[in-house]
Amino acid sequence: MSYIPNINRYEQMDYRRCGQSGLKLPAISLGLWHNFGQLDDFENARQLIHRAFDLGITHFDLANNYGPPPGSAEENYGKILKQDFGRFLRDELIISTKAGYRMWPGPYGEWGSRKYLISSLDQSLKRTGLNYVDIFYHHRPDPETPLEESMQALHDIVKSGKALYVGISNYPAEVARKAIQMLKELGTPCLLHQPKYSLFERWVEDGLLDVLEETGTGCIPYSPLAQGLLSDRYLKGIPKDSRVAKGVGFLTESHLSPDKLEKIKQLNELAVERSTTLAQMALAWVLKDPRVSSVLIGASRPEQISDAVECLEKLYFEPEELSAIENILKP
Ligand SMILES: NC(=O)c1ccc[n+]([C@@H]2O[C@H](COP(=O)([O-])OP(=O)(O)OC[C@H]3O[C@@H](n4cnc5c(N)ncnc54)[C@H](OP(=O)(O)O)[C@@H]3O)[C@@H](O)[C@H]2O)c1
Repeated sequence: MSYIPNINRYEQMDYRRCGQSGLKLPAISLGLWHNFGQLDDFENARQLIHRAFDLGITHFDLANNYGPPPGSAEENYGKILKQDFGRFLRDELIISTKAGYRMWPGPYGEWGSRKYLISSLDQSLKRTGLNYVDIFYHHRPDPETPLEESMQALHDIVKSGKALYVGISNYPAEVARKAIQMLKELGTPCLLHQPKYSLFERWVEDGLLDVLEETGTGCIPYSPLAQGLLSDRYLKGIPKDSRVAKGVGFLTESHLSPDKLEKIKQLNELAVERSTTLAQMALAWVLKDPRVSSVLIGASRPEQISDAVECLEKLYFEPEELSAIENILKP
């Protein structure tokens, strides 16, 4: 079936300015880490992209290594773009990719050298069939390569026209500050930082969010649902089609300790009192901070994307709700 985008797609989504840049991102963005690889159902992947775009999600996040096998999520996304989005809709999309993790054998296939970053982006462009990406990230800090070399490569990538903006991911606060300053001096502002952040993962509150605010850099937290733990997915056991049961990534049964499950159940009760789903409450909780430009979700079914977008109808938390959440999360 050919795809006809929803003509009302821009009416229900909020678009937030990314730091002090000119770019706005949808409050909810979709990541293609899981469920878009060669081993996944292509038609389902296509439906996920359609549902997202129909709901006003204009931003799709990739990385060189998403699959499995690595690279296949970029290939599949490229096929969906070609088949359903044509030449004209490209200008309505913000597509990102990254390099940092191991992608090919030998000393040039990972981390942060100029050699790796530029070659990897060239490969990503081939796999997706794109002429340029909107955002190119350094995926993780490299303890050995001089930061100057990685940032110079990002700057040169923008100058070459292969990316419109650049970002960093998983950088601790003080390394992020240096990287952002270097990019500013080179004349290519750092658009945004992509850190892991959710009710269960709070490290960004210890300095990173302040650095991003001070430097006018955007923030797009990933895994805001803790890979599905912060939803109703595991309340009654481990469903066969869940990320834990599939066993292809890093989320395993060991993450569902009795203590964690108890916290999930209590958070779910609070969400029900707010008349939302737990996933909606977890997303709203991340989005309540104005320093957050967008939250980057994953999904295995189109309905999960619709559920996520509904969180925008209830972003406000009463002070008592926030302290109830803190009480539940206490170690
Ligand atoms: N920069 C980095 O280092 C990095 C690292 C990781 C991820 N990321 C990016 O962040 C994106 C999102 O990460 P993530 O997939 O871990 O995010 P997530 O949103 O925390 O988890 C997504 C999973 O949660 C479940 N889920 C989603 N919506 C739901 C709903 N409404 N109700 C019930 N369950 C729901 C689904 O699990 P089931 O599959 O079990 O249905 C889904 O696959 C990735 O695709 C990637 O783009 C970046």
